[in-house]
Amino acid sequence: MSGQPRPPAAGTAYTTAGDAAVVMKLRYKVLGVIGVLVAAGAITFGQFLSHSLPCGPASALPAGSPAMKAVVQRCYGSPDVLRFEDVPKPVPAADEVLVKVHAASVNPLDWHYLQGTPYLVRMSRGFGKPEDPRLGVDFAGTIEAVGRDVRRLKVGDEVFGGKLGAFSEYLTVREARAVTAKPRNVSFEQAAAVPIAAVTALQALRDKGKIRAGEKVLINGASGGVGTYAVQLAKAFGAEVTGVCSTKNLELVRSLGADHVIDYTHEDVTRGTEHYDLIVDTVSTHSPPDYRRVMAPKGIYVMVGSTEPGNWFGFLGKPIEGVLLGLFVGQQFDMLLAELNPRDLATLADLMRSGKLTSVIDRRYPLSDTAEALRYLEKGHARGKVVLTLDSGE
Ligand SMILES: NC(=O)c1ccc[n+]([C@@H]2O[C@H](COP(=O)([O-])OP(=O)(O)OC[C@H]3O[C@@H](n4cnc5c(N)ncnc54)[C@H](OP(=O)(O)O)[C@@H]3O)[C@@H](O)[C@H]2O)c1
Repeated sequence: MSGQPRPPAAGTAYTTAGDAAVVMKLRYKVLGVIGVLVAAGAITFGQFLSHSLPCGPASALPAGSPAMKAVVQRCYGSPDVLRFEDVPKPVPAADEVLVKVHAASVNPLDWHYLQGTPYLVRMSRGFGKPEDPRLGVDFAGTIEAVGRDVRRLKVGDEVFGGKLGAFSEYLTVREARAVTAKPRNVSFEQAAAVPIAAVTALQALRDKGKIRAGEKVLINGASGGVGTYAVQLAKAFGAEVTGVCSTKNLELVRSLGADHVIDYTHEDVTRGTEHYDLIVDTVSTHSPPDYRRVMAPKGIYVMVGSTEPGNWFGFLGKPIEGVLLGLFVGQQFDMLLAELNPRDLATLADLMRSGKLTSVIDRRYPLSDTAEALRYLEKGHARGKVVLTLDSGE
């Protein structure tokens, strides 16, 4: 016998302070080991997630299959990694339509897909390199073929929508997904500019912002892709709209219907005397407590985008701060993750048809210059939308 106290039998209470101390030490050791394992796992996963493989070669075209031109990325990186290649022309499945693309538009989302950042994007896009090398989402074009189960759309229909692979001469999209008829009185370029940016503006105002006629609405970043649609849509909902932009865009934002404009290069909107019922923020240049100063007692703030998204979780900093602040104050802070759907595209098509919504097109690039278009967008000062043109289709 060593003289050490024997551990109590299972189910027996510890009797001495010495026993309890031994158990506590053991617990700390176990927790320590778990902590080290979790940290090591997180670091390893982080390294794995952020690791970029070199660009792979183009795949050989299957013999005899029709080809088309498309913008592809065979690795993550800057626009320099983009290639304008011949790839197989897609064939529609039973529930899909084949669209001949006449115009596409670029969005910050394309930039995120291209770079694979924030790194969480790679969990769906592919680890190390993109699983699907195609790029682009927003498109407008003409239906060239339909699958045997397609009912709503037909060959010859002019459509617009969103589907990965829009920077191509052709794409296939399921009829039930984000594709809808383009109004005849709207050009392919105008329609191609709409999907991501305008659906985002609509969902920010209507779904997250619960916008109502007569409300005071502030759009921060009013001159960009999302902002130019948000100003028009907020007016269409009957709101009193204030747009924040730089000096060169004041006239543009006024022309879109804004009742008031604020030049962010001269004035800090969060130091003003106005109180807004709803703030839709595409740039997140201020903190939630700063915005709160200019929000109505029951005001809603919707974060859409940020000028500094970062590669990891930085983009979540302000939304988390906002949600925590919202627990203690009357105002509500929310973040939007827009979702493309045919219902909202149809709503936007109606607004375009009636002239209540128009696309501000800043620049046009041929599809083969997609890299240049993305470089321009990345500077963060586009005036409305940047569009890629293919065969005009008119
Ligand atoms: N949450 C979602 O589901 C979702 C969907 C779509 C987009 N987004 C995000 O929303 C953001 C905007 O997208 P976008 O397509 O509108 O981008 P964009 O077209 O590149 O917008 C750039 C605009 O931001 C303005 N801007 C830059 N700095 C500003 C500042 N300090 N104050 C006010 N305005 C400023 C620029 O105006 P000036 O030239 O006058 O500076 C420019 O017009 C991006 O971060 C994007 O990733 C999120």
